Amino acid sequence: MGPLDLRPGSRLAFVTTNPGKFKEAGRALRPLLRLEWVEMGYPELQADDLETVARFGARYAAGLVGRPVMVEDSGLFIEALRGFPGVYSAYVFRTLGNPGVLRLLDGEKNRRAVFRSAVALCAPKGEPLVFRGECRGRIAREGRGRGGFGYDPIFQAGKKAFAEMATAEKNEVSHRGRALRALAAWVVRQQKRSGRASPPARARAGR
Ligand code: IMP
Repeated sequence: MGPLDLRPGSRLAFVTTNPGKFKEAGRALRPLLRLEWVEMGYPELQADDLETVARFGARYAAGLVGRPVMVEDSGLFIEALRGFPGVYSAYVFRTLGNPGVLRLLDGEKNRRAVFRSAVALCAPKGEPLVFRGECRGRIAREGRGRGGFGYDPIFQAGKKAFAEMATAEKNEVSHRGRALRALAAWVVRQQKRSGRASPPARARAGR
């Protein structure tokens, strides 16, 4: 078994300071994996893409935590703003917030936007593995709903804003839900492979 071989039902540390992400991810991966919340920040590299940020964070966090970890980095890319705020989404949320983003789009007809997620898994001293997901949607004219966190009230996927969805419903369509399903599929594939390579299977194959 390699350091990242996760058996179904095993525990996995999710390093994040965001309780909303932890709730969604715990729900999305249950019962395949049991997430443990490690409430810790990590340096967010100033990079052009989410994947680089997630890789760096996962490597850093795995070194500190001393066991395999998962981290997730997301960004909101607004078409009329040529992809802004993208990798600057956390900073823009802290500084302008949802009212500021709505103001930037005042009078703009093109409301198309995409949320992207990069989930990275890494064992101490190992190479990170990255899973991606995206959700296409629109920036609402005004904030709606009371659920979720961050840009949820202004990001509309289909008819509803993320903030109007229950956690399971958001996971079905969201960037994070999709990235986590890719991770879950990888865990299952890996388990099947290691099952085939187990001693009884090898013995049967050799007969
Ligand atoms: P980060 O992945 O924590 O760097 O997130 C970047 C910014 O996007 C933060 O302000 C988050 O609150 C926000 N964000 C990330 N994921 C979501 C989401 O699923 N819905 C709404 N806002 C999000």
